[in-house]
Amino acid sequence: MPVPTFSSRLLAWFDRHGRQDLPWQHDATPYRVWVSEIMLQQTQVATVIPYFERFMQRFPDLETLAGASIDEVLHLWSGLGYYSRARNLHKTAGIVHQQHHGIFPLNIADTVNLPGIGPSTAGAILALSANQRHPILDGNVKRVLARHDAVDGWPGSPAVEKLLWLLAERYTPNKRVAAYTQAIMDIGATVCTRTRPRCVSCPVMDDCAAYRSDATDKFPVKRPRQSTPLRTTTMLILVDEQGSVLLQQRPPAGIWGGLWGFPETDAHDDIASWCDQHMDCKVVATESWPTLTHVFSHFRLDIQPLILRVSRQDQAVMERPGTVWYNARQPLRLGLAAPVRSLLDKLEGQKENHVTHC
Ligand code: ADE
Repeated sequence: MPVPTFSSRLLAWFDRHGRQDLPWQHDATPYRVWVSEIMLQQTQVATVIPYFERFMQRFPDLETLAGASIDEVLHLWSGLGYYSRARNLHKTAGIVHQQHHGIFPLNIADTVNLPGIGPSTAGAILALSANQRHPILDGNVKRVLARHDAVDGWPGSPAVEKLLWLLAERYTPNKRVAAYTQAIMDIGATVCTRTRPRCVSCPVMDDCAAYRSDATDKFPVKRPRQSTPLRTTTMLILVDEQGSVLLQQRPPAGIWGGLWGFPETDAHDDIASWCDQHMDCKVVATESWPTLTHVFSHFRLDIQPLILRVSRQDQAVMERPGTVWYNARQPLRLGLAAPVRSLLDKLEGQKENHVTHC
């Protein structure tokens, strides 16, 4: 009998233990698989599932997504993080609508040219939805291959990444590519985990170089250490007499681009005169809340929330473009950055407490 190959072992494992009932595996059209792969780029399956289902209910096909406003897309994305993914999704829907007659392109060159779709995501979309033979190399797959072949060097470096792509290409089978693609992602997510891999459940344990030398913790090789920089900001939470809160839309580029949030300043600015000059509000009372820390991939952000009870000189609801007085009792469908949402929840919680104590 021939020795089973890497892919045939993975496929046999997949048939018994792989994930075969995820929402995007039913009716695995390019549109549904594309949306799921974008959501899964930096987020775990269990978190993605309810977002995916809500998204499909609201945007069942590419044409509906292309015709929607970016605010609505961001609203449904609120809480998933990495919002450039949502902006690119919307942009791509527009491009496919205009340049490909609304039909998702089923070739790698066109797919990889679309915003937000790199070579691995493009390969996954075409393999999973059209059974086309393309390698993939996401973080989980990198880990499986780096261990199996004891790849030396940090996978983030171009030379090591190139080697991993060669391995990914070599192991991808000619048949059952969709199942193989899901299988290698599932092995990475559920067996060949970052810490404490379950090697005894792994179908390629026997020829895994890291396992054989009892060195799974040495692969993939860790990134050379760098400390994450710290940034700080003060979020000004202006609350008027009716309990409405001032929100501003953030510029399209940068962190939380296009989402709605509180005005921010440097802690040393004169806040009372800023409110007067820019928002036509008089500060009546201030309260400082404990600092929150939000961790991004490249830096940590310490947020100092400052509650400013204000008296508004001007009562219009939407007075300046990109500015709104938000009332939790009539919530608007706005995309909110995660800490903004939790600060609004905290503010609302305080109001409720206040009412019950009266
Ligand atoms: N991560 C990225 N794509 C995935 C998929 N299709 N299934 C499970 N995890 C994934």
